[in-house]
Amino acid sequence: MSSLGVEIKESPISEAEFAAMQEFVSDYLAASVNNETEGGRMRWYPWHSAEYRYNHILNVVALATKIARREGADVDVTRVAAVFHDVAKLSAEQDAHAAVGADIARQFLTSRAEYPPSFVEAVCGAIEDHSYSGDLDELSLEARCLVEADLLDKIGAHGTVLLFLRMGYESRSHLDSGEVTERVLERGKDVKARVASDTADGIAHQRLERVQWFREWLGAEIAGLDDPRDADDDADSAGNSKDADDAGSRATGTR
Ligand SMILES: [Fe+2]
Ligand SMILES: [Fe+2]
Repeated sequence: MSSLGVEIKESPISEAEFAAMQEFVSDYLAASVNNETEGGRMRWYPWHSAEYRYNHILNVVALATKIARREGADVDVTRVAAVFHDVAKLSAEQDAHAAVGADIARQFLTSRAEYPPSFVEAVCGAIEDHSYSGDLDELSLEARCLVEADLLDKIGAHGTVLLFLRMGYESRSHLDSGEVTERVLERGKDVKARVASDTADGIAHQRLERVQWFREWLGAEIAGLDDPRDADDDADSAGNSKDADDAGSRATGTR
């Protein structure tokens, strides 16, 4: 192909460039919190801090990159979209954070280097689409990888820890841990049902299994918690609640 003069698409993003993007996003999130006047968001929830949000972004970058590689998506488009996807999460309203994040990314990408316009548009399109709640098959492959990664970071061991932290903030006791873990399981099942790629489905399956084990261990160790292995009949009655970290405030979810 190269002998015909067709441009071979090399990776346009060096590691140094990617590190600069990460630093920009980290600084942007920190500044969003510092600039905030009091009121508004509940900063005491762990997922409302700049540290949580940036860590979530790193998790999403890792997951999205893995999915993109295995699913044949453009890895650079996917990972750059992932690093910027929640840059506006702490400064814009929830409903607007995807579009505002796309604008911030466009501004960064067009002012720092001569990236191909098609690359910039693919990245910004994926960022804009990342909070889409419809059928994932309607999205670009790269946007789909990003949404799947974003969903997967809410489940599994990590999702369980976040809901346990929330229990503490709400002064709930460890005796609620069984019910809360079942909520994570339900969330995991919802995510597994929604993801489209085999790779994301496999990761969801693995994370569901971890939470299932943990729920069983809790039941075996804590007096007063049912061991779910003994109570299959009750399985349908638990975990009907919506995303726990979204409860009461749609604008403060983790996506
Ligand atoms: Fe988001
Ligand atoms: Fe996110």
